[in-house]
Amino acid sequence: MDKDKFKNLMAMAKAHPNLADMDIEDIHGPWPLPLKNAQAKSNYLGIGFNVRIHDRVRDEHFTALIAMSKTNGVSDFKLSCPSTLLVTGGASRTEFDAVVEVLGQEMAQPDSLVQSVSELYGRYPKNSGCSYTALARQDKLCGHLAAALSAIQDTSPDLVSLLEQKYAELITGSGSQATASSDDNSLAEFERYMHYVPILVEGERGGGKTYDAWALARKHGFPVCLLPGHEGVEPADMLGYMVKTSAHGYVWMDMPLAAAFRSAQTRPTVLLADELLRIPQRQLSVFLTALTPDEVEGVYRLPTGRVLEVVDGVAIAEVLSCPIENLIVIATTNVGGEYAVDQIDPALRERFHVIRRDTESDKLRAILTERVKAKSWSEAIVAQMMKLFEALNTLRTQGNLKAAPTTRTMCRALTVSRRAIEVGPELYAMNLQWVARAPDGRAVVQQQELVRKAVNAAFDIKIPEPNKK
Ligand SMILES: Nc1ncnc2c1ncn2[C@@H]1O[C@H](COP(=O)(O)OP(=O)(O)OP(=O)(O)O)[C@@H](O)[C@H]1O
Ligand SMILES: [Mg+2]
Ligand SMILES: [Zn+2]
Repeated sequence: MDKDKFKNLMAMAKAHPNLADMDIEDIHGPWPLPLKNAQAKSNYLGIGFNVRIHDRVRDEHFTALIAMSKTNGVSDFKLSCPSTLLVTGGASRTEFDAVVEVLGQEMAQPDSLVQSVSELYGRYPKNSGCSYTALARQDKLCGHLAAALSAIQDTSPDLVSLLEQKYAELITGSGSQATASSDDNSLAEFERYMHYVPILVEGERGGGKTYDAWALARKHGFPVCLLPGHEGVEPADMLGYMVKTSAHGYVWMDMPLAAAFRSAQTRPTVLLADELLRIPQRQLSVFLTALTPDEVEGVYRLPTGRVLEVVDGVAIAEVLSCPIENLIVIATTNVGGEYAVDQIDPALRERFHVIRRDTESDKLRAILTERVKAKSWSEAIVAQMMKLFEALNTLRTQGNLKAAPTTRTMCRALTVSRRAIEVGPELYAMNLQWVARAPDGRAVVQQQELVRKAVNAAFDIKIPEPNKK
């Protein structure tokens, strides 16, 4: 769609009747996006945003896509819900690789495409679908796209120029290298060890473990292979398996561990094993064996189980090896729950350098300041947020509150607020994250009251007492 039509829709977004039913959960971008032309069955390069929305009326989640690209030198804007992005909705790893290869030729720094494609991989499950297409034909927006557009406009009022500028940077490689973190020092410990030994980041939930792993990869332009840890992970989910293709019968498909080894044969690659300790110990042995270095040759080795050839009736299986310094392994784990590092098998723990990441005042303040600046709001809001953060932490230490805010929840309050004055009420609206539950399962009213008063004091506002029933 052309610029004027896009601007029209942007203006309409704010007045959409269903806006109030939508919660913005996640905004990502602007980043390089592989887009799909359904008719031409081709892929092309775009830049844009993904916005994750919770539709409260349907109680369903949607991922909206707002992007731009160039067709014959002319800016072409794209809105879509469900997202037509290739990466969402169960596309296979091999499909991504093919896309990245084709699209990477269009841009100056293909690494950042690889990076964003890997980051997207598995991030957003498939949409259930809405009447977006029918509405689009009448130049109308569904509530999800309206919510997404209006949220992005709040942070980037001149969206058209922003996308055009970012697209130009993508193609020419000009522009500042995106610095991912407010505080590059926080990555120094990773950088010190990453080429020598696998790193295990432990810490309380929402403290920036996963974020920092991605920030590290982004900073250095390393591709990322993501291995999400959960109870059901089997060796084949790490290594790979044969998949049927219509054209060639069966082909081998690498899963993250093998994909990381293959990539690390030629270049530094991050293997991000998120929530590693959720993988059952027995299954973890595959991982453990692979990360036992051959120090004489300076390599890691991984038997993938893929049959390369058959000699005299005996299958010869593939063993991948890569230089130790090329395979940057970052595992994360939550503490406080059932996955604490001190409870893991010492044989596993000793293979890692352990780094601690928690929500800490100074770092949180820096992160919030950066985010508030990006919204062009007054930095006074940061001081108010920090005041609340300290107050709730004190309440928790005194045993008057069950939990305290994390970097994640504090950041989210900024993400979902459209204006600075909404931040205090948004934080109060999160009180169920922090208050204890009574034996009947209801939130403890006294604790909710403490949160309400702390918000009122920190933000100098008057959230009224909820109606008692
Ligand atoms: N350095 C940072 N700069 C900006 N935002 C950050 C930073 N660190 C964390 N955040 C914000 O906090 C959120 C939570 O961080 P992250 O997902 O890394 O936590 P985690 O420690 O992995 O939590 P969990 O244990 O629950 O997996 C991020 O999505 C991001 O919004
Ligand atoms: Mg995490
Ligand atoms: Zn929709």
